[in-house]
Amino acid sequence: MMYDTGKIVAGIIIFLAIFSVPFWYSQVTGDAEEVPNLDPALESLKAEGKQCVESVDYMRAKHMDLLNTWRDDVVRGADREYVSEEYGVTYDKSLTDTCLEQCHTNKSDFCDQCHTYVNVEPGCWECHNIVGE
Ligand code: HEC
Ligand code: HEC
Repeated sequence: MMYDTGKIVAGIIIFLAIFSVPFWYSQVTGDAEEVPNLDPALESLKAEGKQCVESVDYMRAKHMDLLNTWRDDVVRGADREYVSEEYGVTYDKSLTDTCLEQCHTNKSDFCDQCHTYVNVEPGCWECHNIVGE
């Protein structure tokens, strides 16, 4: 009796181990959810000789704060000029005119890809125009 129980338990463990391989495999390779690949978009911007208002690392971490600061500056203070800390270039503090029209003309391929992945829906587009729509 003891012997059979042991075999059954071992069988169950082996079954579970094999059954869960695809799960563990996807955890290791990162296939579980497709992490957006922004390299093509960034490469093609670079090829056009374009750079963002700040470095890519800065933008990845801080673009939401930067945009919210821009909005407050413009709406509350009528302050429309942004001088890039990284490059010293002056930009118009505008989501539509600067970010979307000059570079990120394809919002769904760039902004949305990431936002969908992290499950955020910035409510900016109710008012701000999306280029090409
Ligand atoms: C309810 C409508 C509305 C929503 C939603 C909204 N905005 Fe605005 N936003 C405005 C208006 C109106 C202005 C003033 C436009 C001006 O003076 O040029 C403005 C100005 C701005 C500006 C500066 C000027 C420009 O042309 O871009 C920024 C940057 C901005 N908003 C960012 C955002 C961001 C980021 C979001 C989402 C988190 C957002 N806004 C959501 C209405 C809105
Ligand atoms: C590399 C991934 C990535 C890309 C690309 C990206 N975002 Fe984001 N965005 C995020 C993440 C992550 C958050 C949420 C941060 C948080 O919750 O604090 C966010 C949040 C925001 C917010 C703040 C939303 C709020 O409710 O306050 C705005 C505005 C925004 N993004 C605008 C944009 C725009 C415009 C673009 C395209 C030009 C863009 N993002 C591209 C990752 C990205």
